Amino acid sequence: MTGIIKMLTTNAEILYGELMDVLRLFYGDDAPDISHFFVHDGAKFVNTVVVCGSEYSFTEEQDWKGDIEFKRYARRFAKLALYKALRTETGKSMPWGALTGIRPTKLAYGEREAGRDFVPLFEKFGVSAENISLVSDVLAAQEGIYGKEEGAADLYIGIPFCPSKCNYCSFITADIGKTGKYIGAYLDALEKELAACKGMGRLKSAYMGGGTPLVLEMKDLERVLAAAAGLIPRGTEYTVEAGRPDVFTEEKLALLKDHGVTRICVNPQTFSDKTLERIGRKHTAADIFRAFGMAQKFGFDINCDLIAGLTGESLGEFENSIESAVSLSPDNITVHSLCLKKGAKLKEEESRLFVSDIEKMIAFSREKLYAAGYKPYYMYRQKYAAGNAENTGWTKQGKACVYNVDVMEEITDNIACGANAVSKRVFFGEGRIERIGSPKDIPTYIQKIDKIIEDKRKFFGSNQFTFSK
Ligand SMILES: C[S@@+](CC[C@H](N)C(=O)[O-])C[C@H]1O[C@@H](n2cnc3c(N)ncnc32)[C@H](O)[C@@H]1O
Ligand code: SF4
Repeated sequence: MTGIIKMLTTNAEILYGELMDVLRLFYGDDAPDISHFFVHDGAKFVNTVVVCGSEYSFTEEQDWKGDIEFKRYARRFAKLALYKALRTETGKSMPWGALTGIRPTKLAYGEREAGRDFVPLFEKFGVSAENISLVSDVLAAQEGIYGKEEGAADLYIGIPFCPSKCNYCSFITADIGKTGKYIGAYLDALEKELAACKGMGRLKSAYMGGGTPLVLEMKDLERVLAAAAGLIPRGTEYTVEAGRPDVFTEEKLALLKDHGVTRICVNPQTFSDKTLERIGRKHTAADIFRAFGMAQKFGFDINCDLIAGLTGESLGEFENSIESAVSLSPDNITVHSLCLKKGAKLKEEESRLFVSDIEKMIAFSREKLYAAGYKPYYMYRQKYAAGNAENTGWTKQGKACVYNVDVMEEITDNIACGANAVSKRVFFGEGRIERIGSPKDIPTYIQKIDKIIEDKRKFFGSNQFTFSK
């Protein structure tokens, strides 16, 4: 238990999690003692916060119907009250204000569906003008893609193997040197799972990620591509997170092309050789340029992932990474903010992230990408991100990735195959999402494959998917 957990008390346990999320925006382990009291009387919600002896009280009037709506407003107003109290106490404002725990775009769509403009709510929450404008632009870029279609699905295929482990990464992937012995049995299980998903209807897009799919040898890569091809009609948007530039070969790219892949990720993360070494990626900036050139020859749509705030990286190095990515002119550029995740090496080294220039990095990326003609087309935030900053996917006109929009906005079912893959069903009328996850660990996934398939059949059973026997 860290110090911060002991410093907040509230008379309303159901609000504790939300309040902690706001507290974390302002403090590390050094938070002062804070007490929170909540009372409500019909439409009146009163939140009182006491910080270091100063008392702040906020009253909101809001009609509500039913338990779900009551809890939603109770949480919303409690967060807002604590945020305002801490803003006054510390003199600091946060770029996303009191918004925590909900995707900003989902909240914005929710307001639109209720017939309201989302801007007043965001302003009330203290979201910066720049971020309100970012959300507006994302919604505009999603026009024509964003659509709730009952029964439409995206396919995910997980390849949890990598050439080495990057220090920030918490994905279940491991160094292929240690897990390579499982590849044969893993592909046997994956083929079985994919075969069981044949016959599903209305596939919108497919995504093979991981991990680093291109780390597989030709014969193994061919196996998984052939198994997937049976499910993915030609012409469907089909991304392979080819991933690290050190595993690219012309032979492998040709294989992807032959199997209908339309989009690949060539992920630099940074163009600084020093940072690449520090974070455990065994490639150089020169490898990135080489891999990119190779991918271009095959006519794929290309995405490049970058991370702002990588260990030891200066503002200048990050700026150079953005400029280098823009100079390559990929169809999509995704700018992540470094995030401290359980299971990552970085988490063992640091308990909290302090990236002094993160706001400048994000501001620079926005300025450069807008100027180069890119538009933000999806965005999301993660807990424990440096500077509470967001991750944004940028696209050239007409090149937005449908899979990313569907997954981030949670508007389609997801049929996910492989270890640690999480399938999802969206029940629109009920505003409900159900998920089912496969075991994280590769040997357990292999061992339990029959049960995994059976559970999946039940999970999608009442839907229109017809799984083969
Ligand atoms: C599932 S990873 C796979 C990418 C691929 N294996 C590669 O490394 O090129 C997808 C992306 O998430 C981002 N990412 C992973 N861990 C992160 C972290 N802790 N903080 C910020 N971004 C992260 C990276 O940009 C990465 O490219
Ligand atoms: S960032 Fe990519 S290459 Fe690095 S460990 Fe994670 S999945 Fe593997």
